[in-house]
Amino acid sequence: MNRYNIKQMIQVSNLSKSFDTIHAVNNISFSIRKGEVFGLLGPNGAGKSTIINLMSTILKSDEGEILINENDIKQNSTICKQLIGVVPQEISLYDEFSAVDNLIFWGSLYKVPAKILKQRIKNILKLIGLYDRKDDLIKTYSGGMKRRINIAAALLHNPEILFMDEPTVGVDPQSRNKIFEIIETLNQQGITIVYTTHYMEEVERLCKRIAIMDAGKIVAQGTQTELQKQSNVKEAVQITFQLISEVQLEQLQSQLQIKINQSEQKIIIECDVNKDLSNIISICNKSNLRIKDIKLKKANLEAIFLSLTGKQLRD
Ligand SMILES: Nc1ncnc2c1ncn2[C@@H]1O[C@H](COP(=O)(O)OP(=O)(O)OP(=O)(O)O)[C@@H](O)[C@H]1O
Ligand SMILES: [Mg+2]
Repeated sequence: MNRYNIKQMIQVSNLSKSFDTIHAVNNISFSIRKGEVFGLLGPNGAGKSTIINLMSTILKSDEGEILINENDIKQNSTICKQLIGVVPQEISLYDEFSAVDNLIFWGSLYKVPAKILKQRIKNILKLIGLYDRKDDLIKTYSGGMKRRINIAAALLHNPEILFMDEPTVGVDPQSRNKIFEIIETLNQQGITIVYTTHYMEEVERLCKRIAIMDAGKIVAQGTQTELQKQSNVKEAVQITFQLISEVQLEQLQSQLQIKINQSEQKIIIECDVNKDLSNIISICNKSNLRIKDIKLKKANLEAIFLSLTGKQLRD
């Protein structure tokens, strides 16, 4: 079978892993399509790294099945390992080696032939924007630069899938943006990416589909719109007026034909912000209501996460 026709790149079914009494991963199932960036979003200890370690054969599951491009990870681990590149949560580089020597070391572990490896290292260093620093020792690199070399090390055997476990922790905003660009470029080249993080804005920017994790379970999964529906979080706009009377409020309500909640000079309207906002403002203007302030309450992942788990994602 031509593997490029296979839609599901990763299928995880009823996966469980415990450490003594801790159910780190508790009966989890999800699928990841070829070519997508899939986000695993959850707080500290949710089980994200454990899932990455199970999918990359570093850990063995207690129960459940993992298929990588239809290969069972337990029966065909060699094929699976070739398909996967792993960017671990902890940076694993030799400080006393140069960047290029670190990459030669990692490439030789994957048995990439020397000549191919040399060319690949060059291309990857250019991709991550560190080609001109290639001969500098890792100990002279910033945290963000080390993270980028960590990503490069995972790409040397040309994997079709990249697991990235919190790749932006401890990096400056400039390196973070560079890492996002690298991910977008790799994805455009067809690489399937699994991205773990507890930063919602990263998932919102990068991931087409998301699994929200908490305490070893997937609480909800889908696109952001699907998650919003599951969580019942509504978008709204809050408008504060200079002055609004009871009569004006009633008129506004009948014109808008949307239920509005009022407290003092403020109203809150649940609506599709992108679609409805300009119409709401125009009706207010026509009614001679002077707007003092407008606040958007978007149904972002933060609100969705809170509604699904009862917790703030950030500690
Ligand atoms: N090797 C281990 N031995 C014992 N317990 C472990 C081990 N690895 C993970 N755990 C426990 O399993 C749970 C899930 O940990 P995991 O590292 O998968 O979480 P995480 O979502 O990656 O968290 P973080 O955002 O902090 O990286 C935690 O309670 C953790 O303490
Ligand atoms: Mg982790």
